[in-house]
Amino acid sequence: MVGTPLHCPRLIERDAELGALVRFAAAAAGGTPSIVFVSGEAGMGKTRLLDELRAQLQRRAAVAAVACPAFAPASLGPIYSLLDALAPEPASADPPSGNRSPEAGQFQVFARLLDGLRAAAARKPVVATIDDAHWADTATLEFLKFAARALVDERLMLVVAYRSEDVGTSAGLERVVAQIARSPLARSVTLQALSGEGVAEFIEATVGDAAPPDAPSLRRVRERCEGNPLFVEELLKSALESGTRSGLLRGDRVEVRPLAPAKTSNRPPRGRGVRDRKTATKAR
Ligand SMILES: Nc1ncnc2c1ncn2[C@@H]1O[C@H](COP(=O)(O)OP(=O)(O)OP(=O)(O)O)[C@@H](O)[C@H]1O
Ligand SMILES: [Mg+2]
Repeated sequence: MVGTPLHCPRLIERDAELGALVRFAAAAAGGTPSIVFVSGEAGMGKTRLLDELRAQLQRRAAVAAVACPAFAPASLGPIYSLLDALAPEPASADPPSGNRSPEAGQFQVFARLLDGLRAAAARKPVVATIDDAHWADTATLEFLKFAARALVDERLMLVVAYRSEDVGTSAGLERVVAQIARSPLARSVTLQALSGEGVAEFIEATVGDAAPPDAPSLRRVRERCEGNPLFVEELLKSALESGTRSGLLRGDRVEVRPLAPAKTSNRPPRGRGVRDRKTATKAR
């Protein structure tokens, strides 16, 4: 295990969030489209949640996934990618010819792209996930606003995930989220820190049958991780590696018990401490 990336085979403490997304998808399949924002700090499990959602829905819906690139984003790149994944024909959204205003041209491009999504949704309910939307280009964000106004009864759910701490520095995501929030299509799911019990469960499931780190190392992982799954993985990995280096790996299992919230932390001050998990799912 040491040296390889750690992976928790079970999805821990996200039943409410996944359940809400599955319900939104069922509603979309019945003709109530939605745009769902999934937010949470870096490492809190947005990508994992979207992966689990698509895996769960792939028999019932046409699923498509795209992640916005951190560098050199192409205008509307994520939307074209989704259409490529969903449509048998390449998306036809060439810029219109003639003396139209740029706004009219953009409207026409958006309308054609939405028609592509509508055509896919007419064949089968569509669940399309756009990850890392804090890096989305302006036109993609504008397209989401356009879709929020234009969708009526299409069998379409768009899931848009972003880092909550980066929302203000993106190309207008904060404004777009606020504007779409007023639409009846808008839903939101916020990922909070895992509870102490969740972290303990995470460690146990991740370590599996391998020899776990010693008890003090495990305690340090639980104290410092702030309930953030990525931090748990990283800290656990370094605890396992240091165990290997010092020849401390043992054959016996260490009891993993829930721990009280951390009082001190050596992590950068960007997260909350481990605390009891509240269901943070808002369904409108
Ligand atoms: N609830 C969970 N149960 C089990 N594993 C999880 C859970 N949440 C996240 N993970 C694991 O933790 C790691 C970080 O999660 P993930 O990449 O989904 O975070 P993220 O919110 O997308 O981060 P970023 O903002 O950097 O993209 C991944 O290896 C993921 O599989
Ligand atoms: Mg991610």
